[in-house]
This record gives sequence, C-alpha cells and structure tokens, in this order.
Amino acid sequence: MVLEEISQLKWPLLAATVCYLIGGAVYRLYLSPLAKFPGPKLAALTLWYEFYYDVIKTGTYIFEIEKMHEKYGPIVRINPYELHVNDPNFYEELYAGGGKKRNKYGWFVRVFGGIKDGAIATVDHDLHRIRRGAINPFFSKANVRKLESGIIQAKVDKLLARMQQLEKTGQPVDLNLMYSAFTSDVIVEYAFGKSHDYLDNEDFNKNFFHMMSSMHHVGALARHFGWFLPVMLSIPEFITTRIDKGMAAFANFQDTCKSQIAGIMNEMESHSSKPIPTIFHDIINSDLAPKEKTLDRLWQEGQTFVAAGTETTAWCLTVITFHLLQNPEILQKLQDELRESKATSSTQLEKLPYLSAIIQEGLRLSFGVCSRLPRTAPTTQLQLQDGNKVWTIPADTPVSMSAGLIHLDPCIFPSPLEFEPERWINNKSLDKYLVAFSKGSRQCVGINLAYSEMYICLNAVFARYGAVGMVTPAKMVLYETTKEDVEMKHDLFVPGPKLDSKGVRVFFE
Ligand code: HEM
Repeated sequence: MVLEEISQLKWPLLAATVCYLIGGAVYRLYLSPLAKFPGPKLAALTLWYEFYYDVIKTGTYIFEIEKMHEKYGPIVRINPYELHVNDPNFYEELYAGGGKKRNKYGWFVRVFGGIKDGAIATVDHDLHRIRRGAINPFFSKANVRKLESGIIQAKVDKLLARMQQLEKTGQPVDLNLMYSAFTSDVIVEYAFGKSHDYLDNEDFNKNFFHMMSSMHHVGALARHFGWFLPVMLSIPEFITTRIDKGMAAFANFQDTCKSQIAGIMNEMESHSSKPIPTIFHDIINSDLAPKEKTLDRLWQEGQTFVAAGTETTAWCLTVITFHLLQNPEILQKLQDELRESKATSSTQLEKLPYLSAIIQEGLRLSFGVCSRLPRTAPTTQLQLQDGNKVWTIPADTPVSMSAGLIHLDPCIFPSPLEFEPERWINNKSLDKYLVAFSKGSRQCVGINLAYSEMYICLNAVFARYGAVGMVTPAKMVLYETTKEDVEMKHDLFVPGPKLDSKGVRVFFE
C-alpha cells in the first residue's frame, strides 16, 4: 500500500525536482544580482565547477581563475555567489576599505576546520574587532621586542646547534621541517609560556607537520561540505588513527591545546604559582565578556596561533634559503652586509636594506596565504574601475583577491618567478603590492613576531653557512632539490609545490 502511494508520487516529485533545478539555473544565470558579471556559465551555474578543480584536481582553481581574468577582464564571477578581482590597485579598497566594515564569508571560513570562534574564522566585522582587540597588545612590536632575546634568540641558537650536529654527516635534512620546528617552538613558548621543544626531537616531530599538511589537503573538501571536518574530528581517536594518521595527530594537537589552556586557567584561579605571561593571561584579564573567555573558545585561538604562526614563517625561510643557495652572488652580497653591520637585534637588522629586500622577495615568492580571501562589504556597494567602465558590486557580495596571483603579476613584478631582491631597493612603490600578511583589520596579527623571527634567524644561519665555493665557516648544500620544489603548483590555502616533491633538502659540510 505504502509502496503504491510512493510510486504514485514518483512523477510529481520528479517534475518538482526538474522545475526546481531549471528555476535555480535560470535564476543563477539571468536573474541573480551577479548575472551581469562576466565569467564561465558553468562556474555561475554550480559550485561543482570549483569543486572539480580544487578537490578533484587538488587546489588548481586558482589557475583557472587566472585564465578567466585573461579572458574576461579584472572582475569575474567564479561561482554562483562570489566574484574575484585581479586588479592589485583594488586590494586596499577591498581589505582595508578606509576603516569601513569588512566581513569574512561564512562558507569560506569552513576551511579553518570547525574553529568558528577564533578571530581568524569570525565572520562578523564588529565581533572580530572585539576579539582582535584582546590579542593585539600581546603581538605588538614592543611586546615582541621584549620577548625576543629570551625566546627567539634561544630557539635560533638551538636551531644552529642542530645544524652543526649535522655538519660533515652528509645526511640530507628537510629544511622546511627544520624551520617549522623552530617557528613552532617559538610560537608555542610565546603564546603558551612553555614550548613543545620540537627542535630537540630527533626527527623534528615530523608527524606533527605532516598532520598540518594533510589538513591543507582536505581544506577545499571541508569548504564544500561543512560537516566534513567536525564529523572527522568527533570520531574517537583510536578509530581516526586507523582511517588517517594526519587526522589523528590533528585531534591530538587540539587536545594538547585544550589541556595547556585549561592548565593556565586553573593556575590563574588558584594563584598557585608565579605566572609566565601568556596571551591567555591577557585575554582572561581583558574586559571581554565572560562568554569570550571560555576554554571552548580559547583553545580555538590557541590552535590558530600555532598553525598560523608555524607554517607561513617556516615556508618563507625555506624559500629564501633555497634561493640564496641557488644564487651565491646574492648570498655573498647579503653576507657582506651582515658582516659590515655586526647587527644582532631585529631593531638593528631591519635597517639593513639588502636583508630587508631579501625578506620582502621571500615573502613575495612564499605568498603567506596564496589562496583567495573573500570579504564582503555588508552595507556598502563597492566600485571597481575597469578602463572606461565602472562595475558596481552589490553590498554583501563575497569578493576575493589572491596573493598567489598578485605576487606573480608580471606587470608589477617583471620576471615574477625570479628571485630578485634588488627590485625592492630600486622601486619603493612596490611595497604596497606585497600582500603576504593581507591588509586591513584582518591583517595577520603575528606580523611583528614573523619579521623578528626571520631577521634573527637569517642573520644567524648565514653568518655561518655559505654556498659551495664561498669562504664561510661551513657550507649548506642543496640535495636533489630544484626550483620546482618551491614553486606554487597547488593552492592549498598555503602554497603547495608539485605533489611528488620530496621537499627542499640540504646537507651541511
Ligand atoms: C611569514 C609569516 C606569516 C604570514 C605571511 C602570515 C600571513 C597571514 C595572513 C595572510 C593572514 C590573513 C588570513 C585570512 O584573511 O584569513 C593571517 C592571519 C593570522 N595570522 Fe599570520 N602570517 C604569518 C605569521 C604569523 C605568525 C608568526 C603568527 C603568530 C601568532 C600568525 C598569526 C595569525 C593569526 C592569529 C591570524 C588571524 C588574524 C585575524 O583574523 O584577526 N601569523 N596571517
């Protein structure tokens, strides 16, 4: 009887579905406020277009978007709901907007793996300002400088000691792994008061970093299917370990963040010992509302600090080191500058023009986040000048731009894939096109820490190591590594090289 009724409903249901699909398609292609914007019809019709490139073809939609711009101009519709702009002069307007409100795009922040309450994933502009206000002072230049000699210098010394242990062994080491152990030890001690000491681990705790990389590989999937990461992370650890070691390590990492912060909170409540100042003391002592100070929110901030503070800085150091070893004449010039200045603190080092230009060039070619970063202007229309035409973008439309495209724009950076620090010295107006840290109210909060780490680390590493043929106390030699191991071939939110890359490997002589 029931089966009969279902069978009778079959045709009306099918007809309703077909009408719904046709109606949806007509709306998206002809009636939507975004219908007037150029772009491929398939992209305007369905998110599966983007899914194909980002999920099936592993983070390659950025290259399709680049082709769309070549064909259609500076503004294109890249999916049913979102526009992408490739005009570097629009960056300031979209991200900083002269202090006007900029929200993030809820669909896109799913990429942060269920961290909905951390500043990085906060969609609403005003709520973000409140959350960010509580962490800004801890990451200010003055505070970074205060902790520089104690934390950064100590970790750089440890890094150098590990490098020296490897000298004359002929044993190749993954440079990004080594730098990641350094940056993660810095940020964990800086934020939590106690480091995980990955630099002391024989293998630099490579499982942890493989975990981070595996999270990037599922980022696009998580964006399309919002339930994916929360479900994966809720599965008991003994099961996830069997499904995916990276996922298991990620769940473990979250647990560690939670217990470290819970420890700090207990310590504060019981006044049991003299506190080492951490960011969490600042947040708990701030005038944020009590619901903003719960463990459930604070671990999300903590996880962001570690993840955001580790990979980006490490990859930038890796890219810089690769290019210096590939170009001994640039390295020689840098060493001459370092030797002559005898600078040691980041305050002194950042005054050195050549070192600074090398860091700028490293940031350009390592991108920070290469991915598009959508923003919406919730209450105002944005306007984009395109030759004689002005495009008016409806309020609250997600609009994105990508450092992965801006940093490689040959009109701004001729021979964009070449490592040429001089370009920053010869043309000061280029500074505004470096968007590795993004801009505006959502700009990277760790910018001062990142610069300090890079200045101090590069100074120490290249005071000792030169390329083959140079007169230096020791040598660092690239091992089976080519430019293809540092070039962006996949947009995994952060840049990924070719999939079969074995990493940037070096040995020490
Ligand atoms: C070379 C090094 C770094 C680069 C290029 C970089 C780049 C970026 C970018 C592009 C964003 C914006 C992401 C978005 O809009 O979704 C961001 C956000 C963030 N970064 Fe960094 N980052 C670096 C180092 C660090 C460090 C050392 C920390 C240490 C805490 C850090 C912490 C954060 C946090 C907490 C956010 C979120 C800020 C917010 O939404 O208010 N980053 N970073």
